[in-house]
Amino acid sequence: MIRLYEKEDRKAIENIVSFGLNTNSSSLAHLSDTLERDLNRFDRYAETKWPMFNEQYWVCVVDGEVIGGIGITKIQRQPMESKEMVCLHRLSIDSNYRRMGYASLLLQYLETYVKNQKIRRIRLTTQEDLIPAIHFYNSHGYKCVGKKKWEKLVLLTYEKII
Ligand SMILES: CC(C)(COP(=O)(O)OP(=O)(O)OC[C@H]1O[C@@H](n2cnc3c(N)ncnc32)[C@H](O)[C@@H]1OP(=O)(O)O)[C@@H](O)C(=O)NCCC(=O)NCCS
Repeated sequence: MIRLYEKEDRKAIENIVSFGLNTNSSSLAHLSDTLERDLNRFDRYAETKWPMFNEQYWVCVVDGEVIGGIGITKIQRQPMESKEMVCLHRLSIDSNYRRMGYASLLLQYLETYVKNQKIRRIRLTTQEDLIPAIHFYNSHGYKCVGKKKWEKLVLLTYEKII
């Protein structure tokens, strides 16, 4: 089952996403700050019933357990009401449930939602060293449109027109 994030999901999503990005290693510790900011925002939005079409986070529940999540957020500096493009973020699946098609299900759910909002372009940023993620995005039709260094990471930007 896929549903919107609720405050009770915080611990599960925090664990799944930080494990997925290896934020516990000291060189990547700063990534946990941005994750905490995102989770604080999700908690606020969950309280106010996710007020914006371009700020959503969904979780995937299997046998009553949250095993992954995916979200969209507006592109930085883009006006709040713009429907030009959204940014996919915080996709992660519990390591015990990978390679079973759950990320594909979440992505399909997100793309349907985005299409229904009459938004045609999805952008995302990932890391060059997240090999499964690179394969995953390539296999779902996302094209690499940019590459840059950020601190110790190499960041790749992908886009898809849906
Ligand atoms: C990337 C990730 C979300 C994929 O989740 P998943 O549920 O395992 O993905 P699916 O089962 O839907 O896989 C679909 C396709 O993705 C690709 N893929 C997924 N994992 C892969 C791996 N380890 N190696 C190569 N390709 C892989 C394959 O093309 C796969 O299709 P196939 O199984 O028919 O070969 C998951 O590995 C993950 O959570 N990684 C850590 C967090 C992360 O990197 N998130 C993205 C940050 S931008």
